[in-house]
Amino acid sequence: MYTEKELLDIVSRFDTAGKVEGIKALGPGFINDTFIVTTTPDDTTAISSEVGKSPRYILQRKNHIVFPDVPGMMHNIDLVTAHIRAKVEAAGGDPLREVLTVTRRRPESITSEEAAMPYNDLYYKDSNGNWWAMCLFIEGSITYEKADTPALAYKGGEGIGKFQSQLADFTTPLTETIKGFHNIRWRFTQWDEAIKRDAASRVKDLAEEISWIESRRKEMLDFWSLVEDGTIPTRVTHNDTKISNILFDKDGEVLCVIDLDTCMSSTSLNDFGDAIRSYTNTGAEDDQDLSKVSMSLELFEAYTKGYLSQRKGTMTKSELDYLAFSARYITFEQVLRFLMDYIDGDTYYKTKYPEHNLVRTRAQYKLLQSMEQQFDKMEQIVRLA
Ligand SMILES: Nc1ncnc2c1ncn2[C@@H]1O[C@H](COP(=O)(O)OP(=O)(O)O)[C@@H](O)[C@H]1O
Ligand SMILES: [Mg+2]
Repeated sequence: MYTEKELLDIVSRFDTAGKVEGIKALGPGFINDTFIVTTTPDDTTAISSEVGKSPRYILQRKNHIVFPDVPGMMHNIDLVTAHIRAKVEAAGGDPLREVLTVTRRRPESITSEEAAMPYNDLYYKDSNGNWWAMCLFIEGSITYEKADTPALAYKGGEGIGKFQSQLADFTTPLTETIKGFHNIRWRFTQWDEAIKRDAASRVKDLAEEISWIESRRKEMLDFWSLVEDGTIPTRVTHNDTKISNILFDKDGEVLCVIDLDTCMSSTSLNDFGDAIRSYTNTGAEDDQDLSKVSMSLELFEAYTKGYLSQRKGTMTKSELDYLAFSARYITFEQVLRFLMDYIDGDTYYKTKYPEHNLVRTRAQYKLLQSMEQQFDKMEQIVRLA
């Protein structure tokens, strides 16, 4: 926990307009600690900034356990937002509302020690070893916590689709801040090791569950080969596509996508697939009642229509051909990860009871089967959207 005085000291290193007045926590957040910083007009300098005289800001403590390379992560965000900003300006939009604006450090606050660090104007590392970054607070924006209606699913698809289309011509490789994310070849390497290790002596009781993974190994690796050989292009992926990471204006129109910490270079299909995995599940991720778990075709259709409404002309044929499949791919990966963690003795996902990861495996597998059963219809929806 930080005192207000300590937080204000952190803020003072960033180049905010106006005089910093106060700071308060903004909940609920899971990965970062998020604060909102208020300012009052600073008449002593008489500088009328493009951001206004007393803008508000977001201050965030970045989770350096999840993201060991915070400078690389902030550099990714800087590159991505600069690209989107140019697109918004070219379209005559509002660059202070339709993209995140990263707040840079005051040049005079950068010490000689900090000067040796990469991208040192984008973050502050405090004496406790915590990393901080700031951006402009987008006024009058709203977020939704959960997308459980077709109308909201459509909007969620629209938000990520717009983000993807703005970045469709972004070609700079981004820092891989989380190794092997959604790379099934890498996951299978870990999987094979986990089976061999059999750390919790559980493999002997899991013949059926393991066969769910093995019987799909080839088709999943075949898909990933198309990403590796460039048949499916590499673009910017957001990697955390939940609807609470999209800001909307008061009329419900998409403003921008936020929470860009997980942005990396991969196939944009990852974002679509992961959104479908999480938006369309009629049950819970750890549902013990498998009859509740299925993919809602209605929500799939709504999300897909919203997504494709923004991506006309920025997708290749190969991407469209594999769009529906990407939902199976990402869901399969999640089955594998839950089962692998169970085999490993529950070291990665927090569990509430001993069989929790096995319950998750079965529920996620039920979702995968539901997608497989409805796959023809999913492909048809993509074709007609
Ligand atoms: N720049 C911003 N302008 C307005 N609201 C924001 C901004 N950044 C974050 N928020 C609000 O704070 C919430 C949490 O921020 P987010 O960056 O998504 O962090 P977390 O990692 O905690 O999800 C968002 O869902 C949104 O409601
Ligand atoms: Mg978020």
